[in-house]
Amino acid sequence: MAMAGSAVGLGNIWRFPYMVGEHGGAAFIIVYVICCLLVSLPIFFAEATIGKSTRRDTFGALESISPKSKWAGYTAILASFIILSFYSVVGGWSIDYLIRSFGGGFSGRSMAEAREVFAAMGASPVESVSCMLVFLGLTAMIVGAGVDKGIGRFSKISIPVLFVMVVVIAVVSLSLPGAGKGVEYLIRPDFSKLDAPAIAAALGQSFFSLSLGVGTILTYSSYMKEDENLISAGGWTAFFDTVFALIAGFAIMPAVFAAGIEPAAGPSLVFETLPVIFSRMGVVLPVVFFMAILIAALSSSISMLEVVVAWLVDQGGMRRSHAVLAVFGAAAVLGSACAVAPRVFGACDFVSSNVLMMFGALAFALLVGWKMPREEALRHVRYRFVYWLIRYAAPVMIVAIAVTNLL
Ligand code: TRP
Repeated sequence: MAMAGSAVGLGNIWRFPYMVGEHGGAAFIIVYVICCLLVSLPIFFAEATIGKSTRRDTFGALESISPKSKWAGYTAILASFIILSFYSVVGGWSIDYLIRSFGGGFSGRSMAEAREVFAAMGASPVESVSCMLVFLGLTAMIVGAGVDKGIGRFSKISIPVLFVMVVVIAVVSLSLPGAGKGVEYLIRPDFSKLDAPAIAAALGQSFFSLSLGVGTILTYSSYMKEDENLISAGGWTAFFDTVFALIAGFAIMPAVFAAGIEPAAGPSLVFETLPVIFSRMGVVLPVVFFMAILIAALSSSISMLEVVVAWLVDQGGMRRSHAVLAVFGAAAVLGSACAVAPRVFGACDFVSSNVLMMFGALAFALLVGWKMPREEALRHVRYRFVYWLIRYAAPVMIVAIAVTNLL
């Protein structure tokens, strides 16, 4: 559940549905699933193998496999920290919008007014920074409560609740007049749109969506029981993450088309278009929607914080509570910068998803494929075919996407 919680996040809600529509509907979904199976899942297994086999934090785990790969531990932990900082800004917006929707803040508003509300929130440092701090504080409280009592317990309750919420929104959205166009946008296959950037986008999206390359899966796997099977953990996580992304698509796009609006990705979709559309259906639906976004974001942000905390506890000998406080303080600083300066936000997003995550994923695949003793790797990944994917296919594909994305 915790791994599913880490995987299911803003990536599923505000990026996936739009990417599907932009890049050829069902054709893109097929490519996405193939990328997941052939590249992202093997990397998931490699990352989980490192965690489960060494039972250490990201830095200690990599160092114990090959002392030379220490630097990859540092970049992964740094990436987790950076992602936590800008993700918390968006988490803060969802808190802000949740409060507004309780008061029926969007009912009767036009799209232009909603755009102004969003711009005003971004332009008010006090509002965006304080909401970011509340989000980061909630994240810290959950992680501070411990792996089982905090992260585990939160995930076991929140993920099923989240699932029900999104299904309810999808049912409402699909029942709107004109919803059919949204369904068509999501599934009508258009193979002509499948060019190299579309395939790179599918891979990049599946990396981000499965939380790969920065030590989250590694750290969570180091807490698995010896007899737990990481192949089934990974398979279920990827399956659930994909199903959730699809349901989110069916919750969002039909409503967008029913309202006669052009779909967009990212902040403008979630914070401008949807509040207005959902408010036309009463006060409850926007509340449910922003609550769902908040839960999805929290269950992901706790996984990023845990990477850094585990490192401080294992390598620095810090007490868990002190480690949580230290990272909270540091992320509050970078998060504030992200909240007030869109440039900093963009740079953090770009560096972490296009550079550091790729770097980490490559390091994990190479370490398991080429450095770890073959028997030890096979004991965890079980299938020769998977081992082969980790050794050859995954590294080649990562380099290929990194190059395509940076060009
Ligand atoms: N997977 C999450 C999402 O889709 C985000 C996330 C959580 C993440 N942990 C991560 C992304 C680690 C990259 C790395 O929103």
